[in-house]
Amino acid sequence: MKKNGVLVSLSFSSLVFLSTFSIAISYSTNQLIHETCRKFSRNDPNINYNFCITSLQASPESRCASNLRRLGSITINLIKRNVTATNHFIKDLLIAQNKTMGPYQKACLIDCLELYGDAVSTVSDAMKAYRSRHYDDANVQLSSVIDAATTCEDGFKERKGVVSPLTKRNNDAFQLSVIALSIIYVLR
Ligand SMILES: *[C@@H]1O[C@H](CO)[C@@H](O)[C@H](O)[C@H]1NC(C)=O
Ligand SMILES: *[C@@H]1O[C@H](CO)[C@@H](O)[C@H](O)[C@H]1NC(C)=O
Repeated sequence: MKKNGVLVSLSFSSLVFLSTFSIAISYSTNQLIHETCRKFSRNDPNINYNFCITSLQASPESRCASNLRRLGSITINLIKRNVTATNHFIKDLLIAQNKTMGPYQKACLIDCLELYGDAVSTVSDAMKAYRSRHYDDANVQLSSVIDAATTCEDGFKERKGVVSPLTKRNNDAFQLSVIALSIIYVLR
């Protein structure tokens, strides 16, 4: 009976220990994400605090983000997934609306497709550069992703009545890249 009681209380306390431990890990990761996003959004008007938090927390890899360097590679991975998805989205849109789209809209989308096609490989290069700590190269490559998103969005603005179907996507790629650039700026 007594033995049983000891056993029960032992496993209970190890359970408490384990759950406290796992809370501690996610707590420190959370701390890192919040601190980083707070600093960045204060220093850069292009970085929205809530966007930063939500994006970084949503990544499954964020569980093991123990430091800023790790957070940087998580962000670059997010950009890669983002621009790849947008690239596919534009392709699908061009097929689905081939007959219904106006010629100007179509021309803009074709430009965007090229820009995002390039961005996909540029982000891969940026990841390689980042992994080997060639921060200047990663900086240049991620800046060109920002240019791609901006150029794509600007194309639609040049003519009245034309609405960009990519505003949110361009904005996401833009913001994520600005966050990655800020991380690189701190690391180098
Ligand atoms: C791009 O990233 C943003 C921010 O993390 C996310 O909300 C959005 O769903 C992503 N878009 C795509 C198409 O993956
Ligand atoms: C769009 O339609 C034209 C004419 O029907 C065709 O030549 C072209 O290949 C189509 N483009 C796409 C992306 O489906």
